[in-house]
Amino acid sequence: MIIKNVRLINPRTGFDDITDIYIKENVIESIEKDIDAEDPTDTVIDGTNLYCAPGLVDVHVHFRDPGFTYKEDIYTGAKAAAAGGFTTVVLMANTKPCVDNIETLKYVIEKGKSTDINILSVANVTEGMKGCKLTDFEGLYKAGAVGVSDDGVPIMDADLVKEAFLQAKKLNIPVSLHEENKEYIINNGINAGKVSDVLDIGGSKREAEISMIERDIEIAKETGADVNIQHISTKEGVELIREARKTHKNIHAEASPHHFTLTEDALLWHFALAKMNPPLRLESDRKAIISGLKDGTIEIIATDHAPHSKDEKAQEITKAPSGIIGLETALALGITELVDKGYLTVNELIERMTLGPASLYHLEDEIADVSVSKRADLVIFDPNESFTIEKFKSKSQNSPFKGVKLKGKVKYTISNGRIVYQDGKN
Ligand code: DOR
Repeated sequence: MIIKNVRLINPRTGFDDITDIYIKENVIESIEKDIDAEDPTDTVIDGTNLYCAPGLVDVHVHFRDPGFTYKEDIYTGAKAAAAGGFTTVVLMANTKPCVDNIETLKYVIEKGKSTDINILSVANVTEGMKGCKLTDFEGLYKAGAVGVSDDGVPIMDADLVKEAFLQAKKLNIPVSLHEENKEYIINNGINAGKVSDVLDIGGSKREAEISMIERDIEIAKETGADVNIQHISTKEGVELIREARKTHKNIHAEASPHHFTLTEDALLWHFALAKMNPPLRLESDRKAIISGLKDGTIEIIATDHAPHSKDEKAQEITKAPSGIIGLETALALGITELVDKGYLTVNELIERMTLGPASLYHLEDEIADVSVSKRADLVIFDPNESFTIEKFKSKSQNSPFKGVKLKGKVKYTISNGRIVYQDGKN
């Protein structure tokens, strides 16, 4: 396969130029100008006016398999990922049963292997996600878990968190944390503030996140473990990470597209489609997340792709589950909200969606690098093309961005040398 005249941006090497790319089988064979087809059967993609980047990496998705496959399964999740330009995802472990045991982990990994993309999985930090007893980190790691997380549920026992960090450090795997102390929450998924007041439902105070981040930064400093603060939502949280990273680069943070795009006001017109944990907060928080993404305090954009059925989301706001799907709109939200508005360069955006997340899992030598002799995982996109999604590839449709015009369209996703998505089809 040859991609002709494309602008290749590769954060790993700093490459940024118009070039041709020749892919042989599943490997990048050469990157240079004016490559001619060796064989008349070679596929030739015209990349004129398009960008090419490493296949996007999302380290925070919920494919709901096993247990909640009416919302999503590993196959439909993989299709949604490919449609969004993602070639590697890391599954969260809040399935049913949850991934606190080797059998479930093996099921997930094996099923992932029969999809078009690279599917990795974390295992749980604690048994049954109950926050009382650690899982068998070593056994789960040896069976293929790339990290540990109880995402969806915060871990309240600080001693247990410390023990988890120590064990993860020994194995050189990251611990990803959902930081929301329930003591500060009346109803989750909604910021405690003017909107929760208008709706008269109480909400989730910002202290819920800040207090947990404060605690875990200290434990991360003490233990040296790679710790990832998931879906950061408060300006204080961003500042805590910024300060901590001055001396401790083992502390990482991720931001989701909805937290850099929307504020609590979205609840007023999108209702439960704007309900997520942690909640959308204030304009000052949104701006702080953007500045964290700009200066590298936040190295990772991760979608928290959280499918829920139409009926579940149609319930009254306090009953509906939290979360929205995000894979198919992430790149476009980055271009529309961050690049077009002048906050990030397209290269910075791509770095936060490829090298940043890959590095958290120490995978930067294997993925997220479009260089000669590397595996051919690529996304080709048009940063100037606008589009509107009326139907997502995901099994669920719970997105406030359905029917909204966005800019930055994925044209091709190439995974392991194969076109797995092309202009609306996979
Ligand atoms: O809104 C959310 N939904 N946040 C999470 O952390 C979990 C997710 C889910 O699993 O639905």
